[in-house]
Amino acid sequence: MIKEIKSILVSAEEIDKTVEKLAQRINADYAGKSIVLLIILKGSVVFASDLMRKLDIDVTLEFMQVSSYGGGSVSTGQIKITKDAQTDLNGRNVIIAEDIIDSGNTLKALTELLKKRGANVEVCTLLSKPSRREAQVDVKYIGMEIPDEFVVGYGMDYDEKFRSLPYIGILKEEVYAD
Ligand code: PRP
Repeated sequence: MIKEIKSILVSAEEIDKTVEKLAQRINADYAGKSIVLLIILKGSVVFASDLMRKLDIDVTLEFMQVSSYGGGSVSTGQIKITKDAQTDLNGRNVIIAEDIIDSGNTLKALTELLKKRGANVEVCTLLSKPSRREAQVDVKYIGMEIPDEFVVGYGMDYDEKFRSLPYIGILKEEVYAD
């Protein structure tokens, strides 16, 4: 464990088991169908790359990058698309892959946008922080619920660092305090 990490919240082994369970549910729900796995950059790349290799259905990949509008801690629930999907998602079974749902604002805006574009949208997130939820969003696939801690690793960052850690760790407060 690196020195900036207070403790490991989810080990690599636990992550793998969780991803396996999510994949089994998606495989069962979409048997004989094809899906678009919509990977939300950047945090979801590690999760999505593990998830897709456990799927035994037809999968194509799309990528989007979004950022929240709104200054300070006030979230408007709006998103700014900094990278958009490259194919027409109308009529497609789209599964949004997310590393974490916090306020839910990103996902709420994103699912509304994709539904307007005619996609059949579901959400698959590895982690959810229910205590932080502001926006009502319907999430079909949740790997695990976690407490309100500053987590990094397995794609998640602080100041673009720690994304490559193979586990999900709780960051020491002193790292982000100042
Ligand atoms: C994170 C995460 C979600 C969003 C969740 O992305 O990947 O997209 O925040 O937050 P919300 O539920 O409060 O909307 P972030 O904006 O940190 O970008 P990153 O994935 O590039 O690190």
